[in-house]
Amino acid sequence: METRVQRKENGVQRVLIDASTLDKRITELAAQVDSWYLDSTPILVGVLNGAAVFMTELMQAMAIPVQVDFMAVSSYGSSTESSGVVQILKDLSTSIEGQDILVVEDIVDSGLTLQYLLDVLARRNPRSIRVVAMLRKVKPGAIAVPVDLVGFEIPDEFVIGFGLDYAGQFRNLPYIGILSPEAIMAKPGR
Ligand code: IMP
Ligand code: MG
Repeated sequence: METRVQRKENGVQRVLIDASTLDKRITELAAQVDSWYLDSTPILVGVLNGAAVFMTELMQAMAIPVQVDFMAVSSYGSSTESSGVVQILKDLSTSIEGQDILVVEDIVDSGLTLQYLLDVLARRNPRSIRVVAMLRKVKPGAIAVPVDLVGFEIPDEFVIGFGLDYAGQFRNLPYIGILSPEAIMAKPGR
């Protein structure tokens, strides 16, 4: 007999974007992205770890053929504020020279990570670079980095779920939630 474990959601203050709203919006984003690449096979570049969930949902909702690759960058450590230093932890496995590149990001906050990434990718001479981000924070003082397509603009609060983590946790929640202040305070070393 199978017993299912109950999902533990300690640390979530409230749901900001539920699963069906995400699903509907991703279908719209996929249709828009499809229309950009009617004559080419783009390489989707997912930014690990956060964009893994969005990337898999988006590419399955797309109708055109694609290739996929991943990069991992770090700017946060285990804090909720950007450290201001971006590091490549894992680079692409393929050359992007002459290719159409779609950067798939989970969230644009200060814009620092994306600005750095676009700079690195542009120097590799792709044919084109576009960006789709699942979320963008409305944040005064953020870098005005160009994002072609945004799933949802959200308030400047720390969010978790659908790939997004706090200190490595919560990525597998099937919705976007606001992290509770207690969960932030409970983290040792902050
Ligand atoms: P930025 O460099 O400040 O734009 O931050 C971008 C990266 O920080 C994203 O790719 C996320 O991985 C992470 N990040 C920013 N805001 C949040 C958040 O609210 N929750 C979880 N991760 C976040
Ligand atoms: Mg991240």
